[in-house]
Amino acid sequence: MQESRRVRALPPYLFAQIEERIAQAEKKGLNIISLGIGDPDLPTPTRVVEALAEQARLPKNHRYPSSAGLFEFRKAAAEWCCRRFGVELDPGTEVTTLIGTKEGIANLPLCFLDPGDIALVPDPGYPVYTTGTLLAGGEVYKMPLLEENGFLPDLDSIPHEVLGRAKLMWLNYPNNPTAAVASKDFFAKAVALAKEYGCLLCHDAAYSEITFDGYLSPSILEIPEAKDVAVEFHSLSKTYNMTGWRIGWAAGNAQAVGALRRLKTNLDSGVFQPIQYAAMAALSEPPSQDVIRAYQERRDVVVNRLNGLGWNVVPPKATIYIWAPVPQGFTSLEFAEEVFEKTGVVITPGVGYGQYGEGYFRISLCLPVERFEEAFQRWETHGIRAS
Ligand SMILES: Cc1ncc(COP(=O)(O)O)c(C=O)c1O
Repeated sequence: MQESRRVRALPPYLFAQIEERIAQAEKKGLNIISLGIGDPDLPTPTRVVEALAEQARLPKNHRYPSSAGLFEFRKAAAEWCCRRFGVELDPGTEVTTLIGTKEGIANLPLCFLDPGDIALVPDPGYPVYTTGTLLAGGEVYKMPLLEENGFLPDLDSIPHEVLGRAKLMWLNYPNNPTAAVASKDFFAKAVALAKEYGCLLCHDAAYSEITFDGYLSPSILEIPEAKDVAVEFHSLSKTYNMTGWRIGWAAGNAQAVGALRRLKTNLDSGVFQPIQYAAMAALSEPPSQDVIRAYQERRDVVVNRLNGLGWNVVPPKATIYIWAPVPQGFTSLEFAEEVFEKTGVVITPGVGYGQYGEGYFRISLCLPVERFEEAFQRWETHGIRAS
């Protein structure tokens, strides 16, 4: 038996490899501190768990859900976007439920890319923009996110010929893995470009609520007429500590939402209704300020400890990540390997997010402060420094 070319061409999922490595080390009895995957350690709010339990008891919820999601959930999502961003959305045509944003991000390219079409993808970036494109038979054009540009793509540098073939452009702010944020001016420029070239602008807003020091991240849908060309992906995973629940939504351009719904009715049967009701309970309140404060405290501890070891990291305004340069003389893989071998601390090599991630590593803020203190104590003891 031979697997399809499409599956053979898929790169191994970075975190699956890292998890395997951790499992092996733990089997040997090593005390590993994983600063790798961005999976919140804090619990889902009680009101959400209770809503799930209550709704799970009702037989009406045991049947197939609709693929597009309960109207009530889509309405709650639209109202949340309105409260948070002042953006008006029609839950009937402009919102669709997703089995987590990863699912929507992976499926959307199938709706808009024919073989030979281009998707503009940030590099470094969340790997699913690329894999979704490849699975759809599309071509990836990498938009480098460079430090000197504030980790924003240089939209002026994309060749006219590439833009002419581009059917999708992916953006993600606050950004994984660089923790950079984007201004409304940048979004306005992207909207104008997408309009000029008839390209669908896909904004992944998975970290929109994890922001610090009073910073509020904008929605791309706040840009006038953005709905003509843009669709935005929202996730409850990081906002409400719900990564395991698998729920999010796509909102904005009605054609994109409609195409995604049409595809999904053929592929999946939606999200278990009690999870949708529980997500409505989540959305009924803003994200917990205690959670944001916990991330902010961890961010400050990590930045201070890194800077104490010779780094010069500026505290990021958002996300659950710290993105920092590897010491000279190392590739990002070599540095991650060195840190793991010497200290048992797992960090993510930047190259895992694309070639322009080379030279950096990522730390995620998903452990209690004491574990970060311990991790950096180990770095200090074993001479892991910026230079
Ligand atoms: C940028 C980005 N988008 C989307 C996702 C997926 O989120 P979800 O849990 O909603 O599928 C992640 C998860 O880490 C992410 O980092």
